Amino acid sequence: MSNQLQSQLTGIPRTLLMTTRARVEEHQRPDAIFRDPKVAEWWPLLSWDAALDRFYSPIAQLTWAVRAKLFDQIAQRYLAHHPDAIAIELGAGLSTRYHRVGQGYRCWIELDLPEVTALRRRLDTETEYHRFFSRSVMDFSWMDELPVCSPDNLLIIAEGLLMYFEATQVREFIHQLQQRFPGTTLVFDALGSSPRSKGARQLAQLGAPLKWFIKNEQDVAAMGLFIVNAQSLIQENCRYPSRIGIYRWFPWISKLPPLRNACLVLETTLTPNRS
Ligand SMILES: C[S@@+](CC[C@H](N)C(=O)[O-])C[C@H]1O[C@@H](n2cnc3c(N)ncnc32)[C@H](O)[C@@H]1O
Repeated sequence: MSNQLQSQLTGIPRTLLMTTRARVEEHQRPDAIFRDPKVAEWWPLLSWDAALDRFYSPIAQLTWAVRAKLFDQIAQRYLAHHPDAIAIELGAGLSTRYHRVGQGYRCWIELDLPEVTALRRRLDTETEYHRFFSRSVMDFSWMDELPVCSPDNLLIIAEGLLMYFEATQVREFIHQLQQRFPGTTLVFDALGSSPRSKGARQLAQLGAPLKWFIKNEQDVAAMGLFIVNAQSLIQENCRYPSRIGIYRWFPWISKLPPLRNACLVLETTLTPNRS
């Protein structure tokens, strides 16, 4: 295995190294929120990009692990109610959710840009039940290539993805989904912080500028999505007081709107398009 391919990751694809590392480190903790043996198997074959050091921190690691856990729980609940379900992860990066919780799905699809899918192919094995789509999420042809299934048996996951697009692109993406898959569950995370925040400025310096921000979940509802559940990542972090530093003494501040809405995991249903 050569590390050369991975070192070519730039821009937004490069950020997948941070969420991947967060899952590796979570797996290695004695008090892990979840275990992820597959990512631990892959990690020694990858090389860390030192430019990401200033963005990666214990609290960022916790936040990405908690986020992964919340998405896992949604995928598990969805399967429990839809035994014939299909899932697609958009901007999957090196997600190992399929290996953690997805093997009961009729089909699980990982979609990412060609350089990322090429990396996955060196680590993971494509099968009839676990497929890899290599293209941009904004190339809507993937919507026509899903296995036949009714929209209410389809789970679409976009973890750590939509914030990298302009609001107009997110609106068009949702519009396309609404037209093709009314009734489908779409789960994604959205940021309520600002482009001027420290994290946003650091990501911009990495060539991965954040572009889409919301005030709260009502902004998403206004786009025609029915909100099934909204979970605040900052509030979820507070479930692990020994890992949040001085914030353990002030859990109430996570209820303040700017913190509560700083990052929301949103489980939504695509309502039929009105236009
Ligand atoms: C922060 S990473 C998240 C990866 C993964 N979802 C996770 O949580 O570990 C963002 C991912 O979005 C992917 N991405 C960026 N632009 C994309 C696009 N236009 N189409 C598909 N994937 C894209 C990147 O390649 C990268 O894998």
